Amino acid sequence: MSVTERPAPTAGAPLDEDRSGRGAAFSSPEGGEQLRVVEPLIFAASRPGRRDVRFPTPSDAARAAAASQPDIPADALRSAPAHLPEVSELDLLRHFNRLSHLNHAIDLGFYPLGSCTMKYNPKVNEWAARLAGLSESHPLDPAVLSQGSLELQWLLAELLREISGMAAVSLQPAAGAQGELTGLLMTRAYHRSRGEGEQRTTVLVPDSSHGTNPATATMVGYQTVTIRSNERGGIDLGELRDALGPYTAALMITNPSTLGIFEDQIDQVVAAVHEAGAIAYMDGANLNAILGRFRAGDAGFDVMHFNLHKTFSTPHGGGGPGAGPVGVSQRLAPFLPEPLALLVDGDAREVKRNAWAGRSTPGVRFALEAEGTRPESIGKVRAFAGNFGMHLRAYTYMISRRRSWTTAFIRPRSISR
Ligand SMILES: Cc1ncc(COP(=O)(O)O)c(C=O)c1O
Repeated sequence: MSVTERPAPTAGAPLDEDRSGRGAAFSSPEGGEQLRVVEPLIFAASRPGRRDVRFPTPSDAARAAAASQPDIPADALRSAPAHLPEVSELDLLRHFNRLSHLNHAIDLGFYPLGSCTMKYNPKVNEWAARLAGLSESHPLDPAVLSQGSLELQWLLAELLREISGMAAVSLQPAAGAQGELTGLLMTRAYHRSRGEGEQRTTVLVPDSSHGTNPATATMVGYQTVTIRSNERGGIDLGELRDALGPYTAALMITNPSTLGIFEDQIDQVVAAVHEAGAIAYMDGANLNAILGRFRAGDAGFDVMHFNLHKTFSTPHGGGGPGAGPVGVSQRLAPFLPEPLALLVDGDAREVKRNAWAGRSTPGVRFALEAEGTRPESIGKVRAFAGNFGMHLRAYTYMISRRRSWTTAFIRPRSISR
């Protein structure tokens, strides 16, 4: 019987004993349901003298080697034995197995996170993430041992670049909202580099944008100004033009918007923003709806973030860490977080063609950009390359879907013009 099939307990009855073997029970003395973890601590199974591992008797050579070592200083020795559980191998194995069943897993249900997450988390992603060569790699491994991981990062950034039409992509941000933060930090760095950092103090945000947009602008120190939607749910162009000025740092627009509407005056919107010398930011978290049909880069946007968990099937929230890569136009490229994964030796087109066909390319070489290569970079926004496990899952998803995509490295049919 699964825990959810249990009959409702009578009010005031003692909490259920767990008989499911899953270590948790739903029950409540008040008659409602609650999660109660019934797996006792491992110390409860402890019995004096019980052992899990028995160490082999040391060889004579090992004894002799130990005897020649200096004694451990008296003040570093314990005065009493450590308080450790004394359990058999089976007690240990079963205890931790029961605890592991409390973890949420894709075999038990979809990974939850409100409306913001794709509810499709394919198992092939998990298979790829567990491949030893990838799961056992470490970001501090030298490049010569990390060629596969570096190639994957480079390929994913290339795919996102082509999907979005942006000039360059960083995989580093750990979530959509952090992608926004990264985008606005680059915006600020850009205006500062032109001597306009002090002057450009406001970020315009349509009322149909995602809540994280004004929150991010505020975090970066900008004032936000709300632009009302018109009767079709798009941006009111008149109001936008009135609000733009020499003090505008950026417009942040969620497209398609939180109302689910594609902004049909995108060309005029971007042109007006650029005329004012401001940055055009597109929150691309809703990319799923326009993937392969519209590219933010073609429409002239300067920054766009991707939510890998909304478009490319990676888990998030209850299922694990996130990833919010950010793409930029040429003028913001110098400010991207460092380091980027680079192809330093080999033909990019050949590598991409081969990857799409499921082959690796012999003789090519990848590397992480050396620190300080781009002096205007905003620096790191996340340790190492970001949440590599998420990059790996998103890439696996893209590769597994490639037959339904039009070409290797997607050629979209623009609906913007
Ligand atoms: C349109 C939009 N923008 C931004 C975000 C923020 O993304 P995250 O939850 O990864 O920080 C979300 C939520 O996923 C979103 O739906």
